[in-house]
Amino acid sequence: MDTGKEKISWARQYMPVLSSIAREFRENQPLKGVRIGMALHVEAKTACLVEALAAGGAAVHITGCNPLSTQDDVARALGEVPGVHCYARRGVSPSEYYAAIDRVLDSHPQVVIDDGMDLIHRLHTTRRDCLPGVLGGCEETTTGVHRLRAMAREGRLAFPVVAVNDTPMKRHFDNVHGTGESALAGIMLTTNMLMAGKAVVVAGYGFCGRGLARKLHGLGARVIVTEVDPRKALEAYMDGFSVMPMEKAAGEGEIFITATGNTSVIAAPHFARIRPGAVLANAGHFNVEIDLGWLEENADAVTRRDGIDTYTVGGKEIHVLAEGRLVNLAVPKGMGHPIEVMDLSFSLQALCALHIVTSGREMKPGVHEVPTEIDETVAARKLASLGLSIDELTESQEKYLSGWESGT
Ligand code: NAI
Repeated sequence: MDTGKEKISWARQYMPVLSSIAREFRENQPLKGVRIGMALHVEAKTACLVEALAAGGAAVHITGCNPLSTQDDVARALGEVPGVHCYARRGVSPSEYYAAIDRVLDSHPQVVIDDGMDLIHRLHTTRRDCLPGVLGGCEETTTGVHRLRAMAREGRLAFPVVAVNDTPMKRHFDNVHGTGESALAGIMLTTNMLMAGKAVVVAGYGFCGRGLARKLHGLGARVIVTEVDPRKALEAYMDGFSVMPMEKAAGEGEIFITATGNTSVIAAPHFARIRPGAVLANAGHFNVEIDLGWLEENADAVTRRDGIDTYTVGGKEIHVLAEGRLVNLAVPKGMGHPIEVMDLSFSLQALCALHIVTSGREMKPGVHEVPTEIDETVAARKLASLGLSIDELTESQEKYLSGWESGT
């Protein structure tokens, strides 16, 4: 059986919005002759996005955005789609990872679609030869948008990039529900552990952390939140969760999930306090949230199982899932976000890629918002696919909302 193709066709049936865009792309060929370079998690939903872009006439060159998240059978199947070249493989070394990004850039893409900004970083450093041909790009995740804004602040971002992550139709669904459900699924499938009754520490109460905390609460876990932003900490408290610094939480948690986009959130002082047998997982983009370097250097012994590394430190065992990489994608059975949320995120990506093709030349270098019409189109099509309808503003309501004269 061709498992890659099977996985892609399974995903496609639950992506009605992206499928509608793919149909329009096929009919109208708005991307005819456009070269698109991508670095995304290469799995079934991503394959559906790539198929939609290729259906619109684009030549797509794609690789992974994480050494452990590629599904090899999907990558193989993708490589057989006309107009698509796929260089992703699971378990690559850092040099192989960047060599694959270079192969994408060798196609001299006009539009780039990135997840975490490794491809755009490469374009601005060792592959500046490709910069002049780039019209613009799209970025999928919070960490990538942070990096892009930092580049833009220094005046070093050479082309316009749409921050797909930041638009409501992305982060209120993908980050909250997608990461919330799939990270927990990854932890449960890898450890076979029960969440009910567990003390689970969620580091970061942003969009992802909020989703994780809510879903954990629904499963009966006792959720502890750590934060550095007083507003987010207060929000977590009023949502009913315990709030404390990591130093204290370290001694209370049985499972830890980081979702901060920051570095060394669980580090040496915390390892000293962590209870024996604790499980550590990361849902943030890069594998820097748990200080693995310290564990690797200081552990008396390491046992490596599929998806679980056990460090023996000072006579106790600490278990780390998926080498500290995003737990929803990098554990052996990780499938990433549920299909339905990626229908939204990747519909946004497809329409934003088209936006770059039609308007990129007029856009200034820098980070741009997703145009409201695109956000609303995706929401309206999703509602329609669910058979839901909503009210419309009456003329008098529109007038009321846009006026200032009516008061008490
Ligand atoms: P966000 O910016 O909404 O939330 C991050 C939160 O972490 C903020 O509230 C911040 O105050 C807090 N924080 C920062 N440093 C901290 C520290 N040392 N201790 C405790 N809290 C700290 O970001 P969002 O959208 O929730 O994304 C978080 C990370 O997850 C990013 O790296 C993002 O790229 C990644 N991500 C991963 C996905 C996945 O599939 N696993 C999907 C979407 C995003």
